[in-house]
Amino acid sequence: QETTAPGECGRPNHPRWDDFWPNTKKFYEMHVRQDKHSFHPQLPTQNIWGYDGILPGPTFEARYGEPIMVRIYNDLPANSIGFGSPEISTHLHNLHVGSASDGFTGDYYSRTKFGPTMTEPGAYKDHHYVNCYAGYDGFHGTEGDPREALGTLWYHDHRIDFTGPNVYKGLTGFYLLFDEIDSGNENDPNPKALRLPSGVGKYDIPLVFQDKQFDLNGFLFFNQFEVDGILGDKFCVNGKIQPFFQVERRKYRFRLLDGGPSRFYEFYLSYNGVDQPFQYIANDGNLLPAPLTMSKVRLGVAERADIVIDFARYPKGAQLFIVNRLEQVNGRGPTGKILNPGTPILRFDVGDLPASPDNSRVPARLRELPPINLAEVVTTRRFEFDRSNGGWTVNGKLFDVLTATAKPKRNTAEIWVLKGSGGWSHPIHIHFEEGRILSRNGKPPAPHEAGRKDVYVLAPNDEVRVFLRFRDFEGKYIMHCHNLTHEDHAMMVRWDIVPP
Ligand code: C2O
Ligand code: CU
Repeated sequence: QETTAPGECGRPNHPRWDDFWPNTKKFYEMHVRQDKHSFHPQLPTQNIWGYDGILPGPTFEARYGEPIMVRIYNDLPANSIGFGSPEISTHLHNLHVGSASDGFTGDYYSRTKFGPTMTEPGAYKDHHYVNCYAGYDGFHGTEGDPREALGTLWYHDHRIDFTGPNVYKGLTGFYLLFDEIDSGNENDPNPKALRLPSGVGKYDIPLVFQDKQFDLNGFLFFNQFEVDGILGDKFCVNGKIQPFFQVERRKYRFRLLDGGPSRFYEFYLSYNGVDQPFQYIANDGNLLPAPLTMSKVRLGVAERADIVIDFARYPKGAQLFIVNRLEQVNGRGPTGKILNPGTPILRFDVGDLPASPDNSRVPARLRELPPINLAEVVTTRRFEFDRSNGGWTVNGKLFDVLTATAKPKRNTAEIWVLKGSGGWSHPIHIHFEEGRILSRNGKPPAPHEAGRKDVYVLAPNDEVRVFLRFRDFEGKYIMHCHNLTHEDHAMMVRWDIVPP
């Protein structure tokens, strides 16, 4: 819901939203609430938790350089039964944003309760999404900036210890960020515009993959005693179990997101039993410098991949499937075995040619990567992810929400070495600013991983070196395993950006 009346935040001593960002043009409200949802016609309609009551939540279409304000109300039932916590904190995954709007895991709230890093309860919280390289004092970036986090972002709950059940219960949505290059208009006359398949919900389709379990009565089930990870035997796409999608004979952009809680996927596009090539254009929150022709996509929890499929190559009436072939039997990660045929998760039914010609394209060059300037690096830090002390740990320690383990200085760069131990897989997410993989086990990253990243998958015993910058903002942020069960069992560190 978009409104024009900003109003007051409601908390004493909290400035008006437009004092922060005078350029903020748009103000939105979202209500997190319980509502009815159908996962499948053969299952009972049941309560889920959703942003505005729906799963996935409303899709934002934001523009680079246009800050917005989102007021998120917590209307969840205070005495809810079953799994999940009715206090919330909303994180916009991969937005480069001020700490107070980052959905810090301890910043949760409801009308009656609040987290250890909040000062009071509240019916809502305001989030200032700057949508640009902001500059510390509110300078808004201009063209030519080292832009980042453009593309497929997503928002989800981040309440400490309960992120897994809250996201599982439905608290997931997409946030797409466009600029004049990735303009969201395939007929854009601007010569800079890439003209990728466009029209959110039409030819530009975000898809969140989430596996779930249902009990014998057909109600969503979450095992709160499982600490390795939760795997479902029902595969949902945008909240529907193994759905189909009617497509026209033209190009589509699909934004694939592994929405967890714990499963890794390797997707193939299958037609008549034969794997089909497609174009792989973006990894996590940004376009690659050039499209890659691929026949599979591997995703760890929270990773995204944008692909373009051209259905004009198939006859009317053809059926294609997105199939997952990666074997995984528990939350520790994939076995490495590739199953054939695997599980068909989404079916495309090819229909007619589009009413108007397909003007979209996938140009040979997409978005250039910013240079990595190693001279900016002031420190190298090492983080080891393991299981010890009865939980999932980072450098042997359980998460402590009140203590920063690292204090990078604003406007510096560092190298963080992420190391997996003990034979488990961990998709590690670092909040705030996108990083770049310098090396994976001593070797340069594969082309699809060479773009800007915010999730770094550690296969068992992997070591990944990441270049990170800490521009514009100060305050508290986190890094954690995005296997939501590991995250909820303490595989997280707080780190703070401090004044230079
Ligand atoms: Cu997608 Cu800290 O989260
Ligand atoms: Cu993990």
